[in-house]
Amino acid sequence: MNRRHFLAGSGAAMFYTITSKKSFLADLQEQRAHIDLNGEIAAIRPELHGQFAEHLGSCVYGGLWVGRNSEIPNINGYRKQAIDYLRPLGLPVLRWPGGCFADDYHWRDGVGPQAKRPKTVNIHWGSYTEDNSFGTHEFVGLCCLIGAKPYFAGNVGSGTPEELRDWVEYCNYPSGSSLASERGANGSPEPFHIRYWGVGNENWGCGGNMKPEEYAGHYRRYATYVRTFGETKPFLIACGPNGNNADWSRRFMDSISGRRPDGLAMHFYSNGKSPARNFTVEHMQEQLSSFARVEQAIVQQRALLDGYDPERKIGLLVDEWGVWDRMVPEEEKAHGTLWQQITMRSAIAAALGLNVFHRQADKLVMCNIAQMVNVLHSLLLTDGPRCLRTSTYYVFDLMKAHRSKVALRTETQDKALPGLSVSASRQGRDVALTLVNPKHDSGMNVFCSLSGAAPASAKAQILHDPDFNACNTFENPDKIVPREHRVNISGSGISLELPPLSIAAVTLQLAS
Ligand code: AHR
Repeated sequence: MNRRHFLAGSGAAMFYTITSKKSFLADLQEQRAHIDLNGEIAAIRPELHGQFAEHLGSCVYGGLWVGRNSEIPNINGYRKQAIDYLRPLGLPVLRWPGGCFADDYHWRDGVGPQAKRPKTVNIHWGSYTEDNSFGTHEFVGLCCLIGAKPYFAGNVGSGTPEELRDWVEYCNYPSGSSLASERGANGSPEPFHIRYWGVGNENWGCGGNMKPEEYAGHYRRYATYVRTFGETKPFLIACGPNGNNADWSRRFMDSISGRRPDGLAMHFYSNGKSPARNFTVEHMQEQLSSFARVEQAIVQQRALLDGYDPERKIGLLVDEWGVWDRMVPEEEKAHGTLWQQITMRSAIAAALGLNVFHRQADKLVMCNIAQMVNVLHSLLLTDGPRCLRTSTYYVFDLMKAHRSKVALRTETQDKALPGLSVSASRQGRDVALTLVNPKHDSGMNVFCSLSGAAPASAKAQILHDPDFNACNTFENPDKIVPREHRVNISGSGISLELPPLSIAAVTLQLAS
């Protein structure tokens, strides 16, 4: 048998048949969680579900962008299937063009007639050439098609303040300047109203290998010239730490001399020691446990910033996050650099990450998973004309009900790492809950008590596969998809079963 079967029931133990063709007795744990329906944390900004697309591997070229002359069905060059899949997710924001690529990208290469654009070398991701057919206008067009707000990452590493200043003017100045006229001549008389601007990326590494004091000097200089052109006040995002590196944040803040950014962007990857489809239990548990450190990093970095900025005018971002597994050279050769399969384990990781962000909604302004298509922790994978929705795509779909609701305080009895993870949010009588069982060998019988109101109705969907290495493939693209799931209202709470490796999205209507 190539599947485990989760047998519904109660009691201390359950029987599973597992992929490895062995069978064993596994616990069905009784678990308790509590949700305080009046324990408001903060609104969950939709931007906590943000995305990232870099000129890397087949994320943009060959993934999202196939070109107008492609035989792959496209809408003015954008892969139609990708647009059709992404649009219903209502993704809030998309960061582009990098990543490391951003600090070697010169925006002028990507405007004007496509045939006349220069061929440039992508030095970070394989030294192949790009024809720049995907540039500023194409990116804004993509954002319009999928309904996401554009977020541009500017070039500090190999660029100049003038170059970034001009890009902002090109995008945002309404009319009358030469750059605004050029934008009009290139097909967009109306300004793009771009709000989010990154001032460099990982400037402690691929963005120039700078010391925090050095970067702060660059930041101050760039921020002097990146102004409000037209009506759109730019939201400037400074390069923050690698993970929970307090030294970078402190020394940057100490050197910024009053020119404070609107956002500070931390990057936090959850590395995996195994190839995506061949994880060991140990490596999976290690990776999934890293989300406790993500949460700790958010709490500690916010506390550090609070010391400089008690009114929280500087927003904290997790600008790049997700699983980064051991690459498989044959897969990278076939599909592009940093292409990795997305398994049930990856979906659990995505849900643990989003749960962390919801619980810490008062400390965060944006979080962007890396990356949207064909690179690292992606929502879509493509192969020539084929395009599939990964298990992580469905996590974003199941969890979108939280967006703009107010995050609620939750408690779980399970202190294991990785253990039961919960996030909850409320808007009036509507409550969204996400419960994640990250254990591969134990089902959970969860009773979730509610204080402050009683549920009148409850519905649930579940994403689950008993095999942590299972994934949607081009041959079997719908192996892992959400299904209806049973949830019971019992007294002042709800109860439901969570099979091993499962994510349940519950929606409640509270009694009036
Ligand atoms: O997402 C891949 C790379 O990871 C990005 O280019 C960089 O910012 C990070 O190191």
